[in-house]
Amino acid sequence: MEKKRCIAMVPCPGQGHLIPFVEFGKTLVHHHNNLHLSFLIPTLGPPTPSIMAILNSLPPNIDFIILPHINIQDLPQNLHPGIHMKLTVTHSLPFLHHALTSLNTTTHLLALILDVFSADALPLAKQFNIPSYFFFTSGALTLSFCLSFPKLDDTVSSQFIDSTKIVNVPGSIIPFQVKDLVDLVLYERSSEIYKTYLGLCQQLYFVDGIIVNSFTDMEAEAIRVLQEKTTFLDGPSVYPVGPIIGTGSTSKEKQVECIEWLNKQPPKSVLYICFGSGGTITEDNLNEIAFGLELSGHKFVWVLRAPNNSASSSYLMGQMEDPLRYLPSGFLERTKEQGLVVPSWAPQIEILSHGSTGGFLSHCGWNSTLESVVHSVPMIAWPLFAEQRMNAIVLTDVLKVAVRAKVDDESSGIVKHEEIVRVIKIIMEGEEALQIRNRIKSLSDAALVALSEHGSSIRALHILAHKFQNI
Ligand code: UDX
Repeated sequence: MEKKRCIAMVPCPGQGHLIPFVEFGKTLVHHHNNLHLSFLIPTLGPPTPSIMAILNSLPPNIDFIILPHINIQDLPQNLHPGIHMKLTVTHSLPFLHHALTSLNTTTHLLALILDVFSADALPLAKQFNIPSYFFFTSGALTLSFCLSFPKLDDTVSSQFIDSTKIVNVPGSIIPFQVKDLVDLVLYERSSEIYKTYLGLCQQLYFVDGIIVNSFTDMEAEAIRVLQEKTTFLDGPSVYPVGPIIGTGSTSKEKQVECIEWLNKQPPKSVLYICFGSGGTITEDNLNEIAFGLELSGHKFVWVLRAPNNSASSSYLMGQMEDPLRYLPSGFLERTKEQGLVVPSWAPQIEILSHGSTGGFLSHCGWNSTLESVVHSVPMIAWPLFAEQRMNAIVLTDVLKVAVRAKVDDESSGIVKHEEIVRVIKIIMEGEEALQIRNRIKSLSDAALVALSEHGSSIRALHILAHKFQNI
């Protein structure tokens, strides 16, 4: 009997990475059902019920293996989440090798697709003599920056890259200050974290192709530069196949609570507030948001997390504190008609696709950005870390589908409640709100076209699948 033609895919454990990675796999086999996919999943501890629910609902031509989990105690503490993900994969390499060996005997292995943070698994592609690809979970402009970063690093001789230096990222129509690029470039150049990031960017040149979760109308110039290969002469082929977003939540209880509440609200009247899969803000800003929401009088759904007051990190890792105790006294009572506070996690896709949702205050993580675009929800940009500042600038200054909540002064990082009221009014009321809504609706329509039968993203997917089939 002929062996199954199989592609091995290695995501990394972050939810914001795993979901689009899995959705990409589903899209690929939906259009090419003669392919078989096998997800080999490195984990730090047993997967959460929501991840298990996603994996258990995969179509028959996708299977998955959860690799033996890494003991968190074996990893250095207080790491940047990206480095955490990378090390989880590094520690899983022997298990990955074992899993690929058995796949190689039972199937015809066609290719290895990795998340960028799984790059340490690249040598396995050589060992099994198969081509390697990255699935890049951020946008095309971020990819362009990552490809150009090794060159930028070459030009620097000091310990730190000057954060005020102006950089022209290939494919951007506006220049960026270094402080607004991927935050890992701001670390000391001799630090482990900087060197790891630089290493990951260098690895981008060693694969046969990079699949990027974006589409032409959203990032036309960046995609053109990446595909033309005049800027990145020795760069890999790039396949923009987006927007690929999740299909929805698995927690029925929260879904019912949020949707029942949204069902009672007028169309486009609700502001949704969420800082991604693990992002959070300081206690001062949490109070300013609470105050600003009350003053604005607008309806809201707020995914509330316990704050993190550290100046250098704005994410929570594994903390399960009750966030409600951080709200100003009497807030819940006073706003019980105005809003819904949802501790820690909410069914974001269902909320963004609901007709009552009219705005999204977001950290501008790439998945949240694409979800907002697909569902035509104007944004308030409040970036926290990673490449989110870049995304925020593109959304506000280039695509003009978001407004930026400005910090009062850079050192405190406080966004005052008056500013919060100002930006809420801009996206929820009046003429400017209408213009922003029209622009994001056009982008959403363009996303639908990109994903239609002859659209640019599906064409890119077919070209890619054709490459796999010819192996
Ligand atoms: C980070 C980066 O910032 C992002 O750009 C990168 O591509 C992945 O890592 P993250 O903080 O996870 O992202 O945010 P985001 O990319 O927006 O992904 C969060 C995902 O979790 C979204 O799909 C969102 O719908 C989902 N989510 C988040 C929920 O469903 N409910 C929540 O309460 C919070």
